[in-house]
Amino acid sequence: MLGLVIETSCDETAVAIIKEGRELLSNVVSTQIDIHKAYGGVVPEIASRTHTKNISYIVRQAIDEAGVEFSDLTYIGVTYGPGLIGALLVGVSYAKALAYSLNIPLVKVNHIEGHIAANYLTHKELKPPFLSLVVSGGHSHLIYVKDYNEFEILGKTRDDAAGEAFDKVARVLGLEYPGGPLVSKLALEGKAIYNLPKTKFEDSYDFSFSGVKTAVINIAHKEADKLNKADMAASFEENITDVLVNNTLKLMKDKNIDTVVLAGGVSANTVLRSKLKSNCEDLGYNCYIPDLKYCTDNAAMIASSAYYKYSLTEDKSIFDIKNNLQLNAIAHLKVGE
Ligand code: KG4
Ligand code: ZN
Repeated sequence: MLGLVIETSCDETAVAIIKEGRELLSNVVSTQIDIHKAYGGVVPEIASRTHTKNISYIVRQAIDEAGVEFSDLTYIGVTYGPGLIGALLVGVSYAKALAYSLNIPLVKVNHIEGHIAANYLTHKELKPPFLSLVVSGGHSHLIYVKDYNEFEILGKTRDDAAGEAFDKVARVLGLEYPGGPLVSKLALEGKAIYNLPKTKFEDSYDFSFSGVKTAVINIAHKEADKLNKADMAASFEENITDVLVNNTLKLMKDKNIDTVVLAGGVSANTVLRSKLKSNCEDLGYNCYIPDLKYCTDNAAMIASSAYYKYSLTEDKSIFDIKNNLQLNAIAHLKVGE
């Protein structure tokens, strides 16, 4: 069983080819970061146009690197949401055309579920059920993964996503897009001496990061040239990783869940990785963390999710391309929909 899977939800044009679910034959990621950097963030129109320009080449490269032919493929997979609508549409349209021309099934994948499935590639022994902390540029979710294709959202951000807060704080500190890795690097030179607010909800496992972000902006404006940027980066990183880890551990304790799986672009953060791991070790919980290459957007993780969708669904007619020609991209697609 061979799947060719496409991901174009934001600023990476990515294609992976996967054999029997956990063996990746190729995983090509063409990032547009350098193009968007000049604007301080992703420009949706430019992202769509760049995907359109690149996608045929990236598909060809994935086929060549895998050493397979189009005629060897069993199905095509594609991210259909959530993400930038124009960017998603490029991948969805290309995937539909490819599946139609080869007359093979089309498997639609939710990007967030893909981030979680990245962990099946890193940890061959991992199986649901588990709790997943998904932290990316667009989402911060606590999701109970009951089974490979069954999800329940137990907590989410009420405003900014964790990655979005990193990116906005980076801008205040004069760092380039995407800011998360640069804030983290600068934090290594500083001390967490700034007292920043931590938002907690007594009655839910939701997050809120707009308070800490606003506090950073206000201090930066007040202190102006006197601001110690490295100390601020360290204080912000400590604050946000504490909130993420403490909320996750509280949920695990309350609901008696003993396994947590980290996912999403912010899971590349070294402090978050080590804090979650060491706390879980102390409490006797199992903690799974994805390989760095599967943290930020890639098609391998979407391929992993597509495999479980396709192989575990008995009625394969739902994937028939003729039943999927109307498939549309959904910018605000929810997990489990
Ligand atoms: O999952 P992802 O690639 O895209 C979305 O689905 O949103 O996540 C990108 C986000 C960006 O906000 C980026 O700043 C953040 O992940 N990020 C990090 C790190 N690496 C990427 N945030 C903190 N520390 C990092 N090392
Ligand atoms: Zn993502």
